[in-house]
Amino acid sequence: MLNKLLFHRFPNVKSLLTRLQYEFISALNLKRDVLFMNFGYTAHHQGVDPIPLEPEDEIHRYPMQLYHHVAKHVSWTNADALEVSSGRGGGASFIMRHFKPRTYVGVDFSAKAIEFCRSHHILEGLRFEHGNAEDLKYPDNSFDVIVNVEASLYYPNVKKFFQHVKRVLKPGGYFLYTDLRYEEKIPEWHTQIEEIGLKIIKEEDITDNVLKAMELDRERRIHLVDTYIPVILRKQFYHFAGLDLDSPTAVPHLERRRYWYFVLQKA
Ligand SMILES: C[S@@+](CC[C@H](N)C(=O)[O-])C[C@H]1O[C@@H](n2cnc3c(N)ncnc32)[C@H](O)[C@@H]1O
Repeated sequence: MLNKLLFHRFPNVKSLLTRLQYEFISALNLKRDVLFMNFGYTAHHQGVDPIPLEPEDEIHRYPMQLYHHVAKHVSWTNADALEVSSGRGGGASFIMRHFKPRTYVGVDFSAKAIEFCRSHHILEGLRFEHGNAEDLKYPDNSFDVIVNVEASLYYPNVKKFFQHVKRVLKPGGYFLYTDLRYEEKIPEWHTQIEEIGLKIIKEEDITDNVLKAMELDRERRIHLVDTYIPVILRKQFYHFAGLDLDSPTAVPHLERRRYWYFVLQKA
């Protein structure tokens, strides 16, 4: 309830609190146990085979599958890509290894997350830079693909982010975008997306896939919170991890939020 109030009425306060929360997470010694901070994705219950993964990637299966779903609809050959809000870099590293773009820049406003990524994800063509989604410092027409996963809900002014996306994408370039919003905010969000002025190639409600992944990944999430978060902060972090505050083993929910995925293209 408090979260929802902050999101709707005081987006700048919510943004500051989020920033502190992510700096706090990055200051914990989570090592490689936490490389992703999204709710995950599966289509296994719809008859789709799970993606093959390296054994060391297996513990990150569901959040990694969200990146796979986001990235799989476009060609990455010789692409110069930008990810805005790359977090702890698991998605950047996965896309780099799996889809093999030419270059990939991960940007995040958490300085500690960038520091972590620079020391843990070392691949040719991959780099990480500190930056703000609402004020991207890249020249016009510089990227073939822009990726944004479960982050724009935290931007106080998402329209500014969308303007930068349109500006820095090359003509013909793709914006691969996934996020969630409260049900009553979905029409406004869709209007904002239409107003970017990019062609909508694909739009898909993936809420059921995300909820199913949260259910399958629940034990790992509980274990992470119980291992790393001091007791006094656990309730907040259960919520953050999509778990029920009083009963983390209950079926996960998204608090009446819907999760969508979009592929957009610049003319
Ligand atoms: C839920 S995490 C998702 C991280 C990553 N995309 C993933 O799926 O693992 C949201 C991320 O957004 C970043 N973030 C929030 N507001 C931002 C902003 N204005 N500019 C850049 N990054 C921001 C946070 O620091 C955090 O790393």
